[in-house]
Amino acid sequence: MPIRHLISIEDVTLDWWNELYALCRDIIARPGDYSLSCSGRVLASLFFEPSTRTNFSFQAAMMRLGGSVFGFSEPGGTSTAKGETLADTVRMMSSYADTIVIRSPHEGAAKAASLYSEVPIINAGDGGHFHPTQTLADLTTISMRRGGIGDMNIGICGDLLNGRTVHSLVTALAMFPNVNYYLISPRELAIPDYMLAYLKKQNQKYIEVTSLESTLPQLDILYMTRIQRERFKDPAAYERLKNVYVLNRRKLQAARKDCLVMHPLPRLDEISRDVDDDPRAVYFDQARYGMFIRMALLLKMTHAPRVPVAPCTPAAGYRCVNPSCVTGTETYLPVLSKENEPDSCAYCDKKMLTIS
Ligand code: NCD
Repeated sequence: MPIRHLISIEDVTLDWWNELYALCRDIIARPGDYSLSCSGRVLASLFFEPSTRTNFSFQAAMMRLGGSVFGFSEPGGTSTAKGETLADTVRMMSSYADTIVIRSPHEGAAKAASLYSEVPIINAGDGGHFHPTQTLADLTTISMRRGGIGDMNIGICGDLLNGRTVHSLVTALAMFPNVNYYLISPRELAIPDYMLAYLKKQNQKYIEVTSLESTLPQLDILYMTRIQRERFKDPAAYERLKNVYVLNRRKLQAARKDCLVMHPLPRLDEISRDVDDDPRAVYFDQARYGMFIRMALLLKMTHAPRVPVAPCTPAAGYRCVNPSCVTGTETYLPVLSKENEPDSCAYCDKKMLTIS
């Protein structure tokens, strides 16, 4: 079953993933066979927030398929700086391109974009919410290195509150059998309630812990993350928490011999450089796998037919009060509820306020 937009990893089914991964493996094995697969196709790349890996990974992926890319990596030079709405920017871009990749500091921005686009939208990160294509890179890495996904203990460590890669990864892993989650964070940066509700609904086994050292020996995968400075309201809180977890060669001695150390990158001090040469450190390979899985994704998405923009029915009786939600800045957006959860915002997943 094709998916139209990739907004959340919840859009992804196991069958779709298996098909994408098989295509990715074939691309890795025979890259030359794909070098013209997107010839004549155009990707628009709208980055309203800084990026190195994701932006250039998409660009490299499209170029390796023979396609073209235009866009911006900084909205200062675009009409956004004149006050143009996201909806109008997306309408324009969707008339020029065959697929749009978007990164925004606002939660739910990709969902909002999908309401105004005739072509597929790919979420390349929406605030501290989701980052589904990083998860595709993570799943590819796990599959390539472990021969499959499942029957594993995964420790996810760092800023679980604001780390969008964490939220997407946890959502995705629920599709696979027997995954045990060790959620390692300081209490202030614990995983959000909507993610815990998701884990419970999916009957996943998880524990929340604060110590990396005592958890490390049990892990098959350690997924380290950066403390997300840009999401902190209080700079003093960031200073206090920024080095709460530091993995170094000495600590890694306690890990299993085949434990994978992953990180979406960029890393700051949470993994010291003396870990890089350890064969268990796979974070740079993870970035390369990311390019190949994005090639597979673009191959599927950029050939999709255009679908005219259709009006949607707003949800009555609710208002999203999450200050980081895209509905706070793009105030014309219709209020939308999640399917089967009328009081949850379809853009940012947070509980909404009931209004009379
Ligand atoms: C991540 C992101 O942007 O969320 N980076 C990436 O896309 N590989 C992780 C981060 O910035 O910490």
